[in-house]
Amino acid sequence: MTSISQAACIGGGVIGGAWAARFLLAGIDVNMFDPHPEAERIVGEVLANAERAYAMLTMAPLPPKGKITFCKSVEEAVEGADWIQESVPERLELKLDVITQIDAAAHPKALIGSSTSGLMPTDLQRDMKHPERMFVAHPYNPVYLLPLAELVGGQKTSAETLKAAQEKLAPIGMKGVIIKKEIEAFVGDRLLEAVWREGLWLIHDDICDTETLDDVIRYSFGMRWAQMGMFETYRIAGGEAGMHHFLAQFGPCLSWPWTKLTDVVDLDDALVDKIAAQSDAQSGARGIRELERIRDENLVGIMQALKGGDAGRGWGAGKILAEFEKHLWAQGGVRSGAKQATPDHAAPLRLIDTQVSAAWVDYNGHMTEHRYLQVFGDTSDALLRLIGVDFAYVEAGQSYYTVETHIRHLGEARLGQRLYSTLQILASDEKRIRFFSTIFNAETDEALATAEQLMLHVDSKAGKSIPAPTEVLARLAAITEAHAELPLPEGVGRSVGQKR
Ligand SMILES: NC(=O)c1ccc[n+]([C@@H]2O[C@H](COP(=O)([O-])OP(=O)(O)OC[C@H]3O[C@@H](n4cnc5c(N)ncnc54)[C@H](O)[C@@H]3O)[C@@H](O)[C@H]2O)c1
Repeated sequence: MTSISQAACIGGGVIGGAWAARFLLAGIDVNMFDPHPEAERIVGEVLANAERAYAMLTMAPLPPKGKITFCKSVEEAVEGADWIQESVPERLELKLDVITQIDAAAHPKALIGSSTSGLMPTDLQRDMKHPERMFVAHPYNPVYLLPLAELVGGQKTSAETLKAAQEKLAPIGMKGVIIKKEIEAFVGDRLLEAVWREGLWLIHDDICDTETLDDVIRYSFGMRWAQMGMFETYRIAGGEAGMHHFLAQFGPCLSWPWTKLTDVVDLDDALVDKIAAQSDAQSGARGIRELERIRDENLVGIMQALKGGDAGRGWGAGKILAEFEKHLWAQGGVRSGAKQATPDHAAPLRLIDTQVSAAWVDYNGHMTEHRYLQVFGDTSDALLRLIGVDFAYVEAGQSYYTVETHIRHLGEARLGQRLYSTLQILASDEKRIRFFSTIFNAETDEALATAEQLMLHVDSKAGKSIPAPTEVLARLAAITEAHAELPLPEGVGRSVGQKR
């Protein structure tokens, strides 16, 4: 996959901040320019929510987080960037001014995407010297979770630009969909606008309130849309008789008074007040950041459920998530913030540095049980990478499987607690590795949990244990010999319930 090596975000509001989070969590450095005096705080809050969401979204090894730099000008921000994303307010004159500045300062081959919700790319590229590399990349909020970007070219955009943009979005977990012809509001916002206009009439005419309208969407076709969209859903609605039958059945509705779409409601003060009051009654008890977190948790749940769709091959947004995870595993990156093991084997290997995220704590405010196992799992994965058992190795059909684990809980880890883990090999032979890992509180070096584990080298297809290849055994033996000199850690060989 072709990757973005350096990104620039011009505008860091709702959308620009979330684009930055998407890039940073994929390990890409971001230069941000936004004249807002509180831009740094706002982007920081979006990034914190995004990190929380990713901790729930995936167990795949995220690369170390990219670095964000707040710049003083467009020129400074675009320097060295090969993807520049413009996300300033939706005003043509302002966008033209900003895009002209980007065009003048950026590398001529850098891709320039605009987040506009509906302006035509031909208008946006009007004054550019290198308009062929400019296009619309219209995302959906929250950009760090929803994978879609509508890619729309203007009259001067080259076909290669759209192809390159599509390729560069895949490694950051996004799906770039190329729209064949430019049109105001593209495809997504055209559809949303139709439903929005109809919704305004329904409130205006007192057919229902905002909460009932939202219930109608989320308890029914909203769920269908999330996984199959419109046409695939209706194909099923046609039953065995198929799409022809469906169209024949519902076609006549087009001439019935089922819509007010052609007649636009007057969004006067009275209607605005009415909608705002109903919305306050519906959602006013919760703050925006809280609603964002609830939304993120729900979206993560939906995407994870869809990852298991179509018999585990993934479906819709879940398929994109599965592909993103495969890419992360192939990269063999280490979990965000993790350190590479020291080549010095004369001490237990320090393998993982991490932090207890909000997704890891239970109703007591403590790190929940299975997250300990996750950190121990990340620790043994890091050992495997160290001895050459990486994604390609596993794909080729061999791996180490964990066959036994004994965890002791010694202390508490709370939300935000920084942790690190160490691993000491107790014994190894051509098929087995027996080892002892410890999770520590990074501030006090207090041991919080230990795990004694046994892994077995297997031929995954045959489903039986086999000796590991000599290169792997040689790397493993070097560590095992060095660790044989270390004292046995306290707690080795304990059985459950044994007195201390
Ligand atoms: N909000 C959405 O749901 C959504 C979804 C998709 C696309 N978009 C599009 O994304 C773009 C940004 O929308 P938003 O919702 O993030 O708006 P926003 O008001 O939250 O953010 C705009 C940011 O641009 C900054 N800005 C203003 N002038 C600037 C300049 N000259 N240079 C750099 N930064 C400047 C502002 O300080 C602000 O932080 C718009 O084109 C919008 O149509 C929005």
